[in-house]
Amino acid sequence: MDFTHQLLNWYKKHKRSLPWRTTTNPYYIWLSEIILQQTRIEQGLPYYEAFTTKFPTLKDLATADEDAVLKLWQGLGYYSRARNLHFTARYIYNELNGVFPKSYAEIIKLKGIGPYTAAAIASFAYKEPVAVVDGNVFRVLARFFGIYDDIAVTKTRAVFQNLANELISTKHPDLFNHAIMDFGATVCLPANPKCNSCIFNDNCFALLKNEVAQLPVKNKK
Ligand code: ADE
Repeated sequence: MDFTHQLLNWYKKHKRSLPWRTTTNPYYIWLSEIILQQTRIEQGLPYYEAFTTKFPTLKDLATADEDAVLKLWQGLGYYSRARNLHFTARYIYNELNGVFPKSYAEIIKLKGIGPYTAAAIASFAYKEPVAVVDGNVFRVLARFFGIYDDIAVTKTRAVFQNLANELISTKHPDLFNHAIMDFGATVCLPANPKCNSCIFNDNCFALLKNEVAQLPVKNKK
């Protein structure tokens, strides 16, 4: 079985149930991804509940006062995230007739939305086969495939993005992205990864070559 099928099988058994995973509403997915940037799930959960309750639709967020949005954001930090969220909600409401863009290429043009968030929204809401790439994905792919490119170098991102986009399930791009996020967060950990119980422990490059601690390569700048 290949990497993708093994990962999807693992996910079936081990998935974390999270409220934003049961929706295909791009507005809710976007909210969850902005909240989860620089924020742990446990800390982000109550904010996700608060935002979806107080602003159940994009229109509600777009027409809210900035003060109300910032007040609800209180405690999360990095307030530019909340300001960009509000700005982009107003932009979609006023300039795009309230319709959330439906492709990665369009979504990534929005203020405050980078490659990771655009891939999350495009895959979770619209099943577009574009992979999320973050520290978790660098780590899982670098170890499994034996990729020694320095992740501190900007252009390395494209190496991992291209590989992940080849690996992503075209049938279940959403599940692939959820799976690789969860796998990196719960098994293929930065320190003390759970190699003993890992589904890949007979075909992981890093484990077989005793290179787990060396991968991914991150040279100090
Ligand atoms: N971190 C960033 N996005 C996430 C998501 N959709 N689920 C869990 N953790 C995340």
